[in-house]
Amino acid sequence: MGSSEISGFYKKSLGERLSIVREFAGLDEAEIELLKKFGAMDFETADRMVENVVSTQQLPLGIATNFRVNGKDCLVPMALEEPSVVAAASKAAGIAREKGGFSAEATPPIMIGQVQLVHLKEAERAVKEIERNAGRLVDLANQADPVLVKFGGGAKKIESRAIETKRGKMVIVHLLVDVKDAMGANAVNTMCETIAPELEKLSGGEARLRIISNLAVYRTVKAKATFSKKALEESFKEGGLKGGEIIEHILDAYHFAANDAFRACTHNKGIMNGIDAVAIATGQDFRALEAGAHAFASLKGKYGTLTSYSKDREGNLVGEIEMPIAVGLVGGAVKTSPVAKIAVKILGIKTASELAEIMAAVGLAQNFAALRALATEGIQKGHMRLHAKNIAVMAGAKGKEIDEIAEKMAWERNIRADRAKELLKGFREK
Ligand code: MEV
Repeated sequence: MGSSEISGFYKKSLGERLSIVREFAGLDEAEIELLKKFGAMDFETADRMVENVVSTQQLPLGIATNFRVNGKDCLVPMALEEPSVVAAASKAAGIAREKGGFSAEATPPIMIGQVQLVHLKEAERAVKEIERNAGRLVDLANQADPVLVKFGGGAKKIESRAIETKRGKMVIVHLLVDVKDAMGANAVNTMCETIAPELEKLSGGEARLRIISNLAVYRTVKAKATFSKKALEESFKEGGLKGGEIIEHILDAYHFAANDAFRACTHNKGIMNGIDAVAIATGQDFRALEAGAHAFASLKGKYGTLTSYSKDREGNLVGEIEMPIAVGLVGGAVKTSPVAKIAVKILGIKTASELAEIMAAVGLAQNFAALRALATEGIQKGHMRLHAKNIAVMAGAKGKEIDEIAEKMAWERNIRADRAKELLKGFREK
């Protein structure tokens, strides 16, 4: 085994990097050739985006259909590795369409930057002093980003509080910044670093962390849709359940999640299947979205669900979602990744808020689709069909062979690589 201690890997050419990795991991020529196929993003772009690049990792980009958000039809690009997700979102959006689709509303894009102050003589006095100078601190923060201010954004408010810790009292300052169409991390972090020395003077303490909070409680989105009894029943003809019954089953599923963290976690995972997939397609920081979503789900002191369900007067199902969605259309991968730029164009959006609204609708659709399947036929039936196709492809099936072999394995309830190979052999010998 070679050593992983390699100095200046970033300075080496692509060829040199590949030959180091090749030797270290025993890759063959075909594998190196595959890595060299960069796909839609060329080496130079990828290498500017992250460090030590040797290839790109590609994901399927699917288009979810049937979405109508705030009265406007949209095709939703989703990038992910999991089968069934795009189909499920499209199906749910089709059911919601019958009652007009999704309505969604984002709050103004206010992000929070945090500055931690330690070694304070009098924490409460420091809080008061900071509050007294809030206007001046906001002005100072804004000097760090005149462009954002020119576009109507910028720092708006200061909030501070003392916290007790094992290492003594600390004062935590929140700088609230309207980041407009950016995700905001860069602008906010710069502003926090700018005001930190002044905060030290005012508080008599030492500034430590100066960083954005991904718990974007002031930058949330609400979306809502009605799934009618009629559309639900029609979507599930083979299941033999009435629309009203399906709704009762879904409500049972929701109340399970609302009262059990183990279920709520998976319930929210289903929501993030949709939100992350749009985030990845459009070049967003999906880790920030994940962190924010789960912290938001815990804000009431116990981990809960990001969606809720109830019945309207006619007995139709009303689904709602509320969560932080911090996304941007300026700066970051959305501007450098060629496919992300096309994804934004497909969505036909002009602002980060519109993107957040569509993402909330997709999260709700995804959750509704999962509950509809789980509360009725179970999700394995649909999954197994797709799984069988993947196994058939892995066994070497091509074109028409894929569907035929997958169908046969699903019918036999024997979805295995060796069976797929056997069937493929028989198919080709015919
Ligand atoms: C699978 O990726 C997502 C689900 O588990 C979500 C859920 O259980 O609600 C189906």
